[in-house]
Amino acid sequence: MTDEKIVLTGIKPTGTPHIGNYIGALRPLIDMSQNHKTFMFIADLHALNSIHDAKEIKQHTYEIAALMITMGLNLENTILFRQSDINEIYQLTEFLMNVTPKGLMNRAHSYKAMIEKNTETGVDIDSGVNMGLYTYPVLMAADILLYNSDIVPVGKDQKQHVEFARDIAGYFNNIYGETFKLPEPIIGEDCGLIPGLDGRKMSKSYDNTIPLLCPSNELKKKVMRIITDSKTPEESKNPDESTIFQMYSHFASADEIAALRKRFLDGGMGYGEAKTILFEKIDSVLSEPRKRYEYLMTNPSEIDAILNQGAERARVVAARTLTKVKKKMLG
Ligand code: TRP
Repeated sequence: MTDEKIVLTGIKPTGTPHIGNYIGALRPLIDMSQNHKTFMFIADLHALNSIHDAKEIKQHTYEIAALMITMGLNLENTILFRQSDINEIYQLTEFLMNVTPKGLMNRAHSYKAMIEKNTETGVDIDSGVNMGLYTYPVLMAADILLYNSDIVPVGKDQKQHVEFARDIAGYFNNIYGETFKLPEPIIGEDCGLIPGLDGRKMSKSYDNTIPLLCPSNELKKKVMRIITDSKTPEESKNPDESTIFQMYSHFASADEIAALRKRFLDGGMGYGEAKTILFEKIDSVLSEPRKRYEYLMTNPSEIDAILNQGAERARVVAARTLTKVKKKMLG
């Protein structure tokens, strides 16, 4: 059974998905796909403003698609596709440009952050800003409006973009009459800190990530590199300040978490042993999906087949919306 509402979200292929991405963003989307009709696409066009290497975008597109497929995305409820495969997206973006005030784009957080940085460093304020970055929210509004989305699950950093999509839909409806539904952003529950190897938030920009579906020996190496304090094995340890424990709690059951918490507090367990427990847990949870993931990554034509099938289904809806918009704007 699915809820009637249409859920839509895009995932930008700008890096190899790591544990932080999975726990914070991808797993909640997989959960949501179990009982919602979902449009989910790899936002390769959005990656273009920062990545100018086709191979890299293609590789990350496959990685994300393969991860979602092998980690349990419900493919009956979900239309999974590549953003760039739908020609209607380019056309709707161009149409929406004409009802989008330039001032709205000036207020976008990501653009403003660039401008502020440029001002601080004394270079031209628009240095490094391409039009892909500047008009990023229009493309995103087109994504959302093309498929009649009701609900758009996003991270906090993307909330403003969904609000812009609502604004743009409103401007359009005011001029041309009721056409677009007004989408609602939903911001996922805070999953708590997902620490990286050095204890700071796991993030590509800190270079402290663990790729989710990397080979077992690489996973082990990374886990062993987690930075800890220098308590001896005998000493009692605070689980809530431990990267090892926090990471464990995202993969283990409630009973297992309670048991490890006790061992931290009781003392008598060194960090080396705790890391082994963490590694074995993650490794066992991921061992089955990893096999399928590795298979798909060496047979990308199977990923393409799924994405192409998704694109076919998405195109039906996209074509309908575009026809309507074109007629309203151009007669
Ligand atoms: N901009 C989003 C991000 O950087 C990705 C994205 C593109 C998206 N189009 C979307 C998210 C439409 C939700 C809806 O994460």
